[in-house]
Amino acid sequence: MTATTMAARGKTLVFPEGFVWGAATAAYQVEGAVDADGRGPSIWDVFGRRQGAILQGHTGEIACDHYNRYAEDVGLMDRLDLMAYRFSVSWPRVMPAGAGAVNAAGLGFYDRLVDRLLAAGITPYVTLYHWDLPQALEDAGGWASRDTAYRLADYARVVYERLGDRVGTWMTVNEPWVSAFIGYGIGAHAPGRTSMADAFRAAHHLLLAHGLTAQALRADGAATIALMLNLAPVMTPGQVNDPAAELSPEDAEAVERVDALLNRQFLDPALRGEYPARLLPMIERTAGLGHIRDGDLTTIKQPVDLLGINYYTPCVVRYGPGEPANAAYPGTEDIEFCGAYAPTTAMGWPIVPTGLSRMLERLTRDHPGVGLLVTENGAAFDDVVTEGRVRDADRVAYLDAHLRAAYDAIQAGADLRGYLVWSLLDNFEWAEGYTKRFGIVHVDYATQRRLLKDSALWYRDVIRRNGLHN
Ligand code: NOJ
Repeated sequence: MTATTMAARGKTLVFPEGFVWGAATAAYQVEGAVDADGRGPSIWDVFGRRQGAILQGHTGEIACDHYNRYAEDVGLMDRLDLMAYRFSVSWPRVMPAGAGAVNAAGLGFYDRLVDRLLAAGITPYVTLYHWDLPQALEDAGGWASRDTAYRLADYARVVYERLGDRVGTWMTVNEPWVSAFIGYGIGAHAPGRTSMADAFRAAHHLLLAHGLTAQALRADGAATIALMLNLAPVMTPGQVNDPAAELSPEDAEAVERVDALLNRQFLDPALRGEYPARLLPMIERTAGLGHIRDGDLTTIKQPVDLLGINYYTPCVVRYGPGEPANAAYPGTEDIEFCGAYAPTTAMGWPIVPTGLSRMLERLTRDHPGVGLLVTENGAAFDDVVTEGRVRDADRVAYLDAHLRAAYDAIQAGADLRGYLVWSLLDNFEWAEGYTKRFGIVHVDYATQRRLLKDSALWYRDVIRRNGLHN
């Protein structure tokens, strides 16, 4: 699948044959039914009860009620001609205490979901861990504890055993940087801990969990194994519009340092079997190195078939006095994180579509031979329903611009296999609760009515023509 197989037919930018178009969600964000059929509590159930933890006191208790409405939701996917659907399995549904007893009823839900998807001709992509750690494991130390990594691999085997005959694509841990640093370092996500030492430990243990799981599922026969990372190209404000802009040595160093923390902390161990040299002293100063044991990096570096990229916005920095908030992030006290350099989405995230092409091209250069998949890309906007319609032109523009960037990267040689929009449905946006809508399908939370936004219909047409109008 190279640029040469891709012709610009007429006025359409045609994507490679077999390019996979899909959408993604995650269990805690859509399922609801938190007490149904023997599900155990997760860290998000507990965190959600903490005063002030989540905007407006929202919780995932009901969410999109997808647990009960999955058949209708697969029907929507079918109407949109989606080729793939990435969903996550809720660990506490399958193993209520995180280890030991398996809850057959919980597994049964995913069984039904997979069968529905297959009947509709939609390929299921399973994410094994999308942030809903069983609370019992958090009580035992959570991701700061090494044992959690082994528990994830055990649970993954249970899920694989049940669904492996019908699911070919297995994604290990979603956005380990966010789990570790926002969950354990900054504390804005569950479990809401504020120890940067624990954040570095959690990052390593999430990587270890990835390696152990990949190893186990490969041994059990899984066809396709993916690592999934939130990757943000790091650049200075001057490079936003001019990638070739000259940098001062201080700025260049600031970019490298943040890149090591954000991107290479995960890319390098998983794909090269080593931590970036400039990162190790930062880890050592904050957490020591005792949690990184001999042999871990060999376990972490498992062959992966796909690297999943979640891309929303770049990380723009320059050398300078840190904002007070930065001081919490070890090793960046002398770096300024810059915000307002482009129009933003409702999340306040600047819209820079070329960030996606730059990241895809860099991965192609740095890690040749690994297939690429955009596992998440999308935007929250303040949608309104008027006369039974959501005219979300801003979301269409966002998606269109990012798909053009993806197309450009393919032209430049990136082995990009597909694109999954985040998200199929408006859903529980973690600390933002239901106040941020990322869906291409609108959800009225009071009635659970679904409504295809203009972006959904636009996306359906993109899928049908396997490309974009030029
Ligand atoms: C990444 C996460 O994987 C997903 O759960 C979240 O909703 C989106 N980003 C948007 O913030």
